[in-house]
Amino acid sequence: MFKDLLQARRAYRALLPTPVPRSHQLIMAQAASLAPSCFNHQPWKFLFISGEHSLSLWHEALTDGNYWAKRASLAVVVYTDDEWDCVIKKRRYASFDTGMAAFSLILTATELGYAAHPIAGFSPSKIAEQFHIDPQPDFMACNVIGKKTDDLSVLEERHQKEEKERPPRKGVDEFVRFFE
Ligand SMILES: Cc1cc2nc3c(=O)[nH]c(=O)nc-3n(C[C@H](O)[C@H](O)[C@H](O)COP(=O)(O)O)c2cc1C
Repeated sequence: MFKDLLQARRAYRALLPTPVPRSHQLIMAQAASLAPSCFNHQPWKFLFISGEHSLSLWHEALTDGNYWAKRASLAVVVYTDDEWDCVIKKRRYASFDTGMAAFSLILTATELGYAAHPIAGFSPSKIAEQFHIDPQPDFMACNVIGKKTDDLSVLEERHQKEEKERPPRKGVDEFVRFFE
């Protein structure tokens, strides 16, 4: 059931360095490509980063708080540029559309049995430099992907509680208004 998949997705941090086969990486990429986009512009680009050397370049871009991501076997950097999608007055759709593609990838990774954790804590300019993205795009996020472990000793104490319990959500009444 789709609702079970939504419940299963969590931003887990305790990961095992189990490799993600290329066949699974391709399934994730294909899922991302099915996302809707304004005028079907498909403004997203993805870097699938695996293997010791490429991951070590990516590690250099991480903030200290994302130390846990260094155990991941796959990082998927996603980026876009406002110029690649609709801009309607103040509405810039590139980030919106790219977010939907990224979420398709995250849910597919979840269905394949991986933890897939989006992060903003990294240096975009370092990633642009290490992976030759020129000019640097307007929007970038990383998805940290790996097999989850129940061994929480790999995490700092502050992260152990969040691993066990989903951070609380706003009530629907706090962000929804119904009109009939
Ligand atoms: C755009 C974005 C940036 C995030 N950046 C980080 C990050 O840098 N480090 C981190 O540990 N978690 C990061 N997260 C994960 C959130 O903290 C997490 O999704 C949120 O607390 C809700 O928890 P849940 O996804 O397990 O339900 C980020 C999530 C998003 C969507």
